Amino acid sequence: MVSVTVAVLIFSVAFASAYPANDPVIGTWSEGLRYDYLEDDAGNAHLVDNWLKISDYDKLARYNPDQSNQYHLFTRANPSRSQVLVLNNAASVTGSNFSRNRRTVVLMHGFAGSATSSFNTAVLPAFLAAGDFNVIVLDWSAGSSWGPRATQAGQAGGRFINWLNNLTGATANNYILCGFSVGGHGVGHMGRTINGNVGYILSLDPADRWDTNLLFRPSDGAYTEVIHTNGGDSGWLNPLGDVDFYPNGGTSMPGCVTSLCNHNRAYNYLAESLRTGGFTGRRCDNIHHAISGHCHGATLRMGGPNPKPGSTGLYYLVTNSREPFSRG
Ligand SMILES: *[C@@H]1O[C@H](CO)[C@@H](O)[C@H](O)[C@H]1NC(C)=O
Ligand SMILES: *[C@@H]1O[C@H](CO)[C@@H](O)[C@H](O)[C@H]1NC(C)=O
Repeated sequence: MVSVTVAVLIFSVAFASAYPANDPVIGTWSEGLRYDYLEDDAGNAHLVDNWLKISDYDKLARYNPDQSNQYHLFTRANPSRSQVLVLNNAASVTGSNFSRNRRTVVLMHGFAGSATSSFNTAVLPAFLAAGDFNVIVLDWSAGSSWGPRATQAGQAGGRFINWLNNLTGATANNYILCGFSVGGHGVGHMGRTINGNVGYILSLDPADRWDTNLLFRPSDGAYTEVIHTNGGDSGWLNPLGDVDFYPNGGTSMPGCVTSLCNHNRAYNYLAESLRTGGFTGRRCDNIHHAISGHCHGATLRMGGPNPKPGSTGLYYLVTNSREPFSRG
């Protein structure tokens, strides 16, 4: 079995970027321009073709996330070296540090990401600092260079958790699913696939240019929260959860000059909220007020390790331009 030491491995993805002229276009997966530049977690730009071609259907048919998804377990007993849990291999679980008596966090990276994405290296240690969790890092790098595969990768993740729960007696309510960017939609599909109601789902700046039929939904878990930090650019601007936070208006973050920096702030804020709390938001009457920051309603804290069942609405708050980001 292969294990990953998250802090040490260097992110690298190889891209095949041939768009043969004899590859007929048969549809689109998002509106707008055919070609787009998207940045991966490391800040490298990749040319992405938003139109579906015969070759994409062919690749999609061969993509089997039930086989290619990898599940790296971290706990306080093994905080930096993972134990790999393998679907239909009970010994991989019973021989690991997984405990059904702990809550389980599942982390789902974004476009062109992997187990070693900066999203994982920021959020994994923050969860282990916040509580005695099982943390499972889902590595779907076999599919992540084509963003829409987050849907299939998330569904396969849900099937894996159903198997894990059947084996161990863990229940959906004790799960926290946390996804970033396209993974922010993927965790919605994971939640829908899991038997029972997932206790807490966090969608961090869920990606823009996403099929409106496949968006994250408030009903994907018992409590769902979305943090918007680059809405209308890399991220989806409109509300998608039970609760939606619009720090600094949800699009441009203080201290950032690039879209990638704005986008990544979503997990920087979450990581800080897990370690030290803070980030008190004020409820807004509507999306316009959330974007413009005219919000004077009830308070609610963003992120953190515990769900806020029953809470709904849009919230605004202001952050500092660097750590500590929270103003309390
Ligand atoms: C964690 O797993 C390792 C490897 O199986 C084992 O040696 C260790 O005792 C476990 N630790 C705890 C606290 O269960
Ligand atoms: C889990 O157990 C239920 C009830 O026994 C069964 O219907 C289901 O197929 C099982 N799912 C998996 C993924 O093993």
